[in-house]
Amino acid sequence: MPVSLPFSVLSDAFAAAPHRFFAPLRERAPVHHEPAIDSYFVSRYQDVKRILTDHEAFTTEVFQERAEPVMRGRVLAQMSGAEHTAKRKIVVRGFTGAALQQQMRAIRANAADLMAPFLRRGRMDLVNDFGRPFAVHAALDVLGLDRSDWRRVADWYGGVAEFVTSLALTPERRRHCLNCAEQLEAYLVPVIRERRSRPGEDLISTLCTAEFEGVGMSDRDVTALILNVLIAAAEPADKTIALLFKHLIDHPEQLAQVRRDPDLLGAAIAETLRFTPPVQLVPRRAEESTVIAGTTLPAGATVFCMIGAANRDPAAFGAPDTFDIHRTDLGTARSFTAAAQHMAFGTGLHQCVGAAFARAEIETVAAMLLPLLDKVRYSPGFRYRETGLYTRGPVSLSLDFTPVP
Ligand code: HEM
Repeated sequence: MPVSLPFSVLSDAFAAAPHRFFAPLRERAPVHHEPAIDSYFVSRYQDVKRILTDHEAFTTEVFQERAEPVMRGRVLAQMSGAEHTAKRKIVVRGFTGAALQQQMRAIRANAADLMAPFLRRGRMDLVNDFGRPFAVHAALDVLGLDRSDWRRVADWYGGVAEFVTSLALTPERRRHCLNCAEQLEAYLVPVIRERRSRPGEDLISTLCTAEFEGVGMSDRDVTALILNVLIAAAEPADKTIALLFKHLIDHPEQLAQVRRDPDLLGAAIAETLRFTPPVQLVPRRAEESTVIAGTTLPAGATVFCMIGAANRDPAAFGAPDTFDIHRTDLGTARSFTAAAQHMAFGTGLHQCVGAAFARAEIETVAAMLLPLLDKVRYSPGFRYRETGLYTRGPVSLSLDFTPVP
């Protein structure tokens, strides 16, 4: 079906299959203005890279409106300078080095528990039966929150995430999201107080005891950073797990290669992130009037970097619409570092702090699942559908495989 411009990012056609619009946008409307939300959508690789790395001209001030009302305080994304560097370091400590080793043990145990009942049946919805609870449990473990509370915590932070990522929110949804944020804060404050008096090894304890410029963080600061990690960690990870399996099932020869050589998993995860990044949009604010691809972005403009479109720009990747775990223009080792060629983790100062954790988490789980899901295929009658404009992933992924006794 040919794609016609002008079009709307808010249209049903775009929501159904955004990737069909990426090439026409890059070629004919590389800076697309969306009047209904007075925002600009930038789709070329070089332009996205420039916006995410020119920290003077494009700032994360947008998050003040998008995040602060529900995050209860300031999140990493909206900080800059020394405060950002120092607090980012504190958060990073929570899931690297020795902490990471310990977390991977918990992740293996958690994954084994969650998958066991489905393995016996030979059928599993990789999104709803496994990926979602798994990724939420993993984030709760890092923070030191009780796993048994996962459903209500996930519902609350779902509301918070909806507020941050919605392009247009009705007054009812807005109220719902603010209500979720209040309930989540009410749940977290007693935990924070308890960790202040009896700190443990978890990230909440680290946040409670850390100091910035000689001063400890307030309950509000700690709450905001907890929400930051909860929202940032769980959703993209569960979407990536499902997308990885979808792409491998759709490319049986590559699935067979990964089964034979699990060392290829890192490359398969990196290519999944390039091909279908779960975070599709990264917003910024233009601080001064700036020309991008011949279009003037006025000072104060909201700009959405289209990560999905940039990651499929032929100026950056050969045969960009092909899923290929062997591509030589990506590079597995650097795909989870600041030198990543794809932009699924963003780029520049605010690039994802959880990239190494995400790789370890997804690789660990995929390495466990692959040998267990013998003859894995879509369940009869299953229809693949994706949802989301800001973050995007499969609604479900129902798989059949040989039951494990
Ligand atoms: C495949 C999984 C993941 C993807 C695709 C992803 C993607 C992203 C992206 C695109 C950003 C940049 C936002 C911006 O520039 O404004 C980001 C930031 C962030 N991510 Fe991730 N993320 C993932 C997993 C994780 C995990 C597992 C954690 C924590 C354990 C995490 C924590 C964060 C935090 C705290 C930030 C804010 C960093 C800052 O502003 O300095 N992410 N992530």
